[in-house]
Amino acid sequence: MTEKNSSLFQFVIILVVVVKIKIQLSDESEFLVDKSNTGLTHIPKELALETTALDVSQNYISELQTSDILSLSKLRILIISHNRIQYLDISVFRFNQELEYLDLSHNKLRTISCHPAVNFKHLDLSFNMFEALPICKEFGCMSQLKFLGLSATQLEKSGVQPIAHLNISKILLVLGETYGEKEDPESLQDFNTDSLHIVFPMKKAFRFILDMSVSTAISLELSNIKCVLDSECSYFLSALVKLQNNPRLLNLTLNNIETTWNSFINILQSVWPTTIEYFSISNVKLQDQLDSRDFDYSHTSLKALSIHQVVSDVFSFPQSNIYKIFSNMNIQNVTVSGTHMIHMLCPSQISPFLHLDFSNNLLTDMVFKDCGNLIELKTLSLQMNQLKKLANIIHMTSEMKSLQQLDVSQNSLRYEEDEKTCSWTKSLLSLNLSSNILTDLVFSCLPPKVKVLDLHNNRIMNIPKEVTYLEALQELNVAFNSLADLPGCGTFSSLSVLIIDHNSIAHPSADFFQSCQKMKSIQAGSNPFQCTCELRDFIQHIGQLPSEVVEGWPDAYKCDYPESYKGTPLKDFHVSPLSCNTGLLIATIGVVVLVLAGSVTFFCLYLDLPWYLRMVCQWAQTRHRTRNIPLEELQRNLQFHAFISYSGHDSAWVKGELLPNLEKEDIRICLHERNFVPGKSIVENIINCIEKSYKSIFVLSPNFVQSEWCHYELYFAHHNLFHKAFDNLILILLEPIPQYSIPSNYHKLRTLMAQRTYLEWPMEKSKHGLFWANLRAAICIKLTAQGKEINHTQS
Ligand SMILES: *[C@@H]1O[C@H](CO)[C@@H](O)[C@H](O)[C@H]1NC(C)=O
Ligand SMILES: *[C@@H]1O[C@H](CO)[C@@H](O)[C@H](O)[C@H]1NC(C)=O
Ligand SMILES: *[C@@H]1O[C@H](CO)[C@@H](O)[C@H](O)[C@H]1NC(C)=O
Ligand SMILES: *[C@@H]1O[C@H](CO)[C@@H](O)[C@H](O)[C@H]1NC(C)=O
Repeated sequence: MTEKNSSLFQFVIILVVVVKIKIQLSDESEFLVDKSNTGLTHIPKELALETTALDVSQNYISELQTSDILSLSKLRILIISHNRIQYLDISVFRFNQELEYLDLSHNKLRTISCHPAVNFKHLDLSFNMFEALPICKEFGCMSQLKFLGLSATQLEKSGVQPIAHLNISKILLVLGETYGEKEDPESLQDFNTDSLHIVFPMKKAFRFILDMSVSTAISLELSNIKCVLDSECSYFLSALVKLQNNPRLLNLTLNNIETTWNSFINILQSVWPTTIEYFSISNVKLQDQLDSRDFDYSHTSLKALSIHQVVSDVFSFPQSNIYKIFSNMNIQNVTVSGTHMIHMLCPSQISPFLHLDFSNNLLTDMVFKDCGNLIELKTLSLQMNQLKKLANIIHMTSEMKSLQQLDVSQNSLRYEEDEKTCSWTKSLLSLNLSSNILTDLVFSCLPPKVKVLDLHNNRIMNIPKEVTYLEALQELNVAFNSLADLPGCGTFSSLSVLIIDHNSIAHPSADFFQSCQKMKSIQAGSNPFQCTCELRDFIQHIGQLPSEVVEGWPDAYKCDYPESYKGTPLKDFHVSPLSCNTGLLIATIGVVVLVLAGSVTFFCLYLDLPWYLRMVCQWAQTRHRTRNIPLEELQRNLQFHAFISYSGHDSAWVKGELLPNLEKEDIRICLHERNFVPGKSIVENIINCIEKSYKSIFVLSPNFVQSEWCHYELYFAHHNLFHKAFDNLILILLEPIPQYSIPSNYHKLRTLMAQRTYLEWPMEKSKHGLFWANLRAAICIKLTAQGKEINHTQS
């Protein structure tokens, strides 16, 4: 890591720490220290002074001293449960004025000494080893007390006296294993609480005479009731009968019961005519069989009975008697779950059942077959049973005219093509078919008015487009199926919640957002999205929706393909519009080509690009050629760089432009009229001039072509060129010569014009510089000293 990086890193860490401190400071009211299950033998010394909650449960602490917690003046909550404390002096808390919650349950406390200066709201001394109730007279001052946990092996009415005037919301009383040797049946009468929970000794048979009808209690919970002999159960039954003395009692809960079938039904029977409205029984172990018997349903206040977790030693006896008792109960709510119940009978008359929950049993499709007496029933749960054919369920519920909610999730339901019955009850609004083995076919038969439909975790591959009758459907859950696309809302015009995560949707169609305008929530994450061009519309649409509408966005929406994008959130997947749109691509290429062609045309037409190119090309060629000229050629006895042939009509240009421009660069020119040798004919003079010059320059123009002389000159030059195989001809095109204007017998000129590249005289002044440079390069040659001298003497 470079120095810069590391200092940046440090800065980030400091920033994080600062932010953390700020968070803690801003939430000044809570400073939690969790030291539970850390092998402590003492309360740790170095605790932050601002600690408000300290959890040291599940350790080996055996002592609690003032000095342990003296400094924690802000402590409000202290949890020391599951330790080894044997003795407690409550005065250790005298300096913790804020302390209101103290949990000392599950220790080995035998005695406590009291102190007046404490005012707990929650004090738990349950599951300890007290003999008598650990209630000091100072507890009477705890006016705030809402919860009190106690434990004892002996109860005395006088022990309760100090708190009799307190209105405590909940009292938990745990009776030790040795409870019951000497009982005072009236000992609880002075408890003043809404809710009382008594835990009886776990291993002892219920042979107690304790009166549990505490007059203030609305709710009573009893744990650990063991009576497997009829003689023992009579104790418990008479205790239940005594509950009728308390007309306030509404809730009764029994936990951990071990008894016989007969006693169990007796318990139900004895609660039936009381004031109790909610009766809940859980963790039941039953022995023996049920004798044939009747049940008296009269005079009940009961509204709800729930029975959870029943195991039975023998289940191979005729059970119809049990089912008969349950099915004819005259109450609204019945829950029987976690039992091995395999059947339930139809009530023998119109039943007042409103809500039945038979989840987690072994019920089959035969349950409630042809049952016309459940016409009041509103909700029915058959979750986690052994149901197999959806057609049977449809048939079963078709008689339930009030049924609004049906839960048949977690079964093995399937729906076959040949099922003819599709007679769902019209009242059904919510149907849970999740975790079954249903296929696309299920969409051919669904309740017509259903608003909430849960089909998650099935085997659906496609939602058929022709499903049009589910106009009321608002919530559809099809997560954990094998769907390849989002449904269209044309099918479900009221749909507002769609859950379709964990499917096989690779290319979701973006039309979904057009057709589903009422969408309030969509959850489509964890699909194998293929991040290609087709996905862009979808991402764009979904990204524009408010974040509360798209559940799990952006984290749950990731590319699965191509490999290079795997795991990239869709939010971060971008492709250029160009690479996705062929039309646009073609158009762009077209535009580029047009611009190129346009600029080429512009350069050609207005800046004469081809002329420049040709000139540059010629210049390069000449440079190349001159470099290859053998040395002895250059040493020839030449006096002039060039001989110029031109028509008399062009002499103004030759004398005004050409000559000055060449001669100022020290280029020596032979003009036949200037370097005229007297006594020789014009032709001889011209030949003489050509032979003494390294190059022959011809100034071509229509005038030149007309001129006879020029033709000869050309002719000689050509010969010279031919014999020496020496490229010494330079053509300057002063004015364009139309091909037709060259007389047809001028073969040489024609072929020269056709073969040779010539230098064109540009009209534009700006190009003249390049023209002269090119021309000079073509002539450029060093003449021998001898030639120079001759030339000097001549000039
Ligand atoms: C105890 O207080 C609660 C409210 O906190 C009240 O509803 C209840 O009636 C009181 N009980 C007695 C016996 O005063
Ligand atoms: C009684 O039981 C019902 C249903 O379980 C519950 O809603 C209610 O709070 C309970 N009342 C008391 C006082 O515990
Ligand atoms: C009966 O059960 C339904 C559904 O579980 C619940 O909404 C209702 O409150 C229960 N009624 C009573 C009286 O417990
Ligand atoms: C359907 O039942 C399953 C449990 O089997 C539950 O998780 C889910 O929430 C239920 N669906 C609805 C819509 O209540």
